Amino acid sequence: MTTWPVHGRIDGPIVMIGFGSIGRGTLPLIERHFQFDKSRFVIVGPDDTDRAIAEKHGARFIKQAVTRENYRELLAPLLTEGGGQGFCVNLSVDTSSVAIMELCREIGSLYIDTVTEPWPGFYFDKDMPVDQRTNYALRESLLAARRKSPGGTTAVSCCGANPGMVSWFVKQGLVNLAKDLGDTAPEPTTRDGWAQLAQRLGVKGIHIAERDTQRAKSPKPMQAFVNTWSVEGFLSEGVQPAELGWGTHEKWMPDNAGTHKEGCGAAIYLQQPGANTRVRSWTPTAQAQYGFLVTHNESVSIADYLTVRDSSGAAVYRPTCHYAYHPCNDAVLSLHELFGQAGRVQEVQHILNEDEIVDGIDELGVLLYGHGKNAYWYGSQLSIEETRRIAPYQNATGLQVTSAVLAGMVWALENPNNGITEADEMDYRRCLEVQTPYLGPVIGAYTDWHPLVGRPGFFPEDIDTSDPWQFRNVLVRSGDSPVQAQPILKK
Ligand SMILES: NC(=O)c1ccc[n+]([C@@H]2O[C@H](COP(=O)([O-])OP(=O)(O)OC[C@H]3O[C@@H](n4cnc5c(N)ncnc54)[C@H](O)[C@@H]3O)[C@@H](O)[C@H]2O)c1
Repeated sequence: MTTWPVHGRIDGPIVMIGFGSIGRGTLPLIERHFQFDKSRFVIVGPDDTDRAIAEKHGARFIKQAVTRENYRELLAPLLTEGGGQGFCVNLSVDTSSVAIMELCREIGSLYIDTVTEPWPGFYFDKDMPVDQRTNYALRESLLAARRKSPGGTTAVSCCGANPGMVSWFVKQGLVNLAKDLGDTAPEPTTRDGWAQLAQRLGVKGIHIAERDTQRAKSPKPMQAFVNTWSVEGFLSEGVQPAELGWGTHEKWMPDNAGTHKEGCGAAIYLQQPGANTRVRSWTPTAQAQYGFLVTHNESVSIADYLTVRDSSGAAVYRPTCHYAYHPCNDAVLSLHELFGQAGRVQEVQHILNEDEIVDGIDELGVLLYGHGKNAYWYGSQLSIEETRRIAPYQNATGLQVTSAVLAGMVWALENPNNGITEADEMDYRRCLEVQTPYLGPVIGAYTDWHPLVGRPGFFPEDIDTSDPWQFRNVLVRSGDSPVQAQPILKK
């Protein structure tokens, strides 16, 4: 039997909000890696379908939705009951991360989440201006909470796989690239230092490049949305505007792009849903592939973190940064069906559990591009088979997220007075040390692929041949040629 390292002791109550695919998978990891009083582990959520799993692990289940009206009276007593420092692990949809985090900091409880989630209504409010429905706006609300109350009890924001782990991969990727490009300066220790390293290495941009090859035993039926993680979460972010950290090397902007007047200024949005916006990208297994430019917190936070500014505050260097997500095949078909029926959501929504998957991996990493060695992918290739062997109640996608939550919790316990903290600001080495046993092969791979390979094909295209790594070449636009004139991919 494997002996798992115990990383720390949680001496107050643990309150987990939500017990969906990520909550269920996180519970056994908390049990393995922390000392705590099991009778003080509480799960709160409106759906108690998996109450038996919670109770098997000694957790109490309170069947109740956390709402704008009740969150204070519901959560504050649970987090303070019996003394010690409470820990709130928010793995729910439809609850405001910022509101709950502020409450936790008021009462001195540690806090972690995997996304900056709003109260219900935000994602599907047609009357809200498009720029307000962005992750940029959600993140700015988090940064405002931090400005209002700097320092204090640690609250870790957006610490799943992505957002989360990928920010640690970016740093490891930059360090590896520096070595291979002969940059001998000591490893950066500050935000400015990391940004200057990215600039020095000539990194024009970063794709969060993911290919989920997990295959379901039963093919997707009609009118069902099937995914390997929260369907609700994916739909919410998928109908937000496509969004990306906007690099200083970009020479062209889509006609429907919008910029922000307030805030960090690191990102732009497109007036179209991210889950219906395709980009060209690359992962080691898929090689060249289409991914969806779904908005994500890390597209903004990484671009912001790696911005170099001059003395007047103007950005002189920033990498473009965005998600390029090829979800599992069933999710691709689900999106095709959904957008084909004018966005009407399917009646059945289903998350594939570990027993419903035949085979496959979740290949999730960062593609650092535009530098002297063209492009470098660094990431995890976790298979469903390995996942089944090492952790219960989850598929490979889930384990990449839950192990990042574990790493974030360890870091929070070890740094309990760091205030509101983003993954980019955490000690990436410590976090990856905790997480890596759960990530399957973690590899780095160079490629000579770029978004102009094989183009133009049989039809004229609007491309910029002076720089393959322009967003103009990455974005798939109507009228682009999907047909290549000749086979082009090199292995
Ligand atoms: N950062 C990442 O890498 C990453 C990856 C996957 C999921 N996520 C996020 O993690 C969260 C959970 O994902 P999941 O796959 O477990 O989702 P899920 O849909 O399987 O579960 C959502 C859970 O939230 C609960 N919930 C709904 N409304 C609630 C309320 N008002 N109060 C309390 N609980 C409520 C549901 O009952 C359910 O238990 C989502 O916000 C998702 O976007 C982040």
